[in-house]
Amino acid sequence: MISFINVDCTFGKKAGIKNVNFTINSGDFVFLTGPSGAGKSTILRLIYMDLFPEKGKVSIRNFDSSTIRNHEIPFLRRRVGMIFQDFNLLQDRDVYENVALSLYVSHYKTREIKNRVYEVLNQVGLGHRVHFYPSELSGGEQQRVAVARAIVKEPVVLLADEPTGNLDPRVSLELINLLNKINQRGTAIIVATHNYALIPRIPNARLFQMEEGEVTKIT
Ligand SMILES: Nc1ncnc2c1ncn2[C@@H]1O[C@H](COP(=O)(O)OP(=O)(O)OP(=O)(O)O)[C@@H](O)[C@H]1O
Ligand SMILES: [Mg+2]
Repeated sequence: MISFINVDCTFGKKAGIKNVNFTINSGDFVFLTGPSGAGKSTILRLIYMDLFPEKGKVSIRNFDSSTIRNHEIPFLRRRVGMIFQDFNLLQDRDVYENVALSLYVSHYKTREIKNRVYEVLNQVGLGHRVHFYPSELSGGEQQRVAVARAIVKEPVVLLADEPTGNLDPRVSLELINLLNKINQRGTAIIVATHNYALIPRIPNARLFQMEEGEVTKIT
């Protein structure tokens, strides 16, 4: 479903990633690990097509980095959800609106928006926080809002860049269990992290180890 073929993506003279090759299938749960600067975020940004390779090719379903046109990128991003370390919620919108916003933008019908938003908020365990504002929520709850927002359009893959970076160990495990549940419903998950304690929590996870821009080991 996702493939990298001989991908190089550099920043000026500095190597971001070099000659990266892998494929990810629809049911996969992948941990992307490695020290700071190894290239984990670069890989996620290439999948989101927020960056493009200088050499090689990235493909996600039928979207291909070498042929995609600018007006097609929003269609790719409907299929790819993304969450970050710092949640990135809109502070002046409540939980409902944070999750519903991308559906308004994509012209979903009002009833469908309401149904989808309530469904995902229940799925992430926030059915009782619908009209709270981000500042009224714990870090773990805010990250679950971000997850709800990322999955509301039923993406084929959910990307998570250091998603537990601002969470304590207990809440981090709750988040990883939630990602596991989402994966079991058929969404591929890719978690970039240096929190190695998370890895054994997903027994079937694949591990991509990175060092200095290269994927050095895939299991
Ligand atoms: N926009 C940019 N401009 C210049 N260099 C960059 C840029 N983004 C990343 N790099 C460089 O590319 C390399 C890989 O960076 P990347 O952010 O992918 O690492 P990472 O594994 O996500 O690190 P961290 O664990 O700190 O998040 C690093 O050497 C980094 O300095
Ligand atoms: Mg990073």
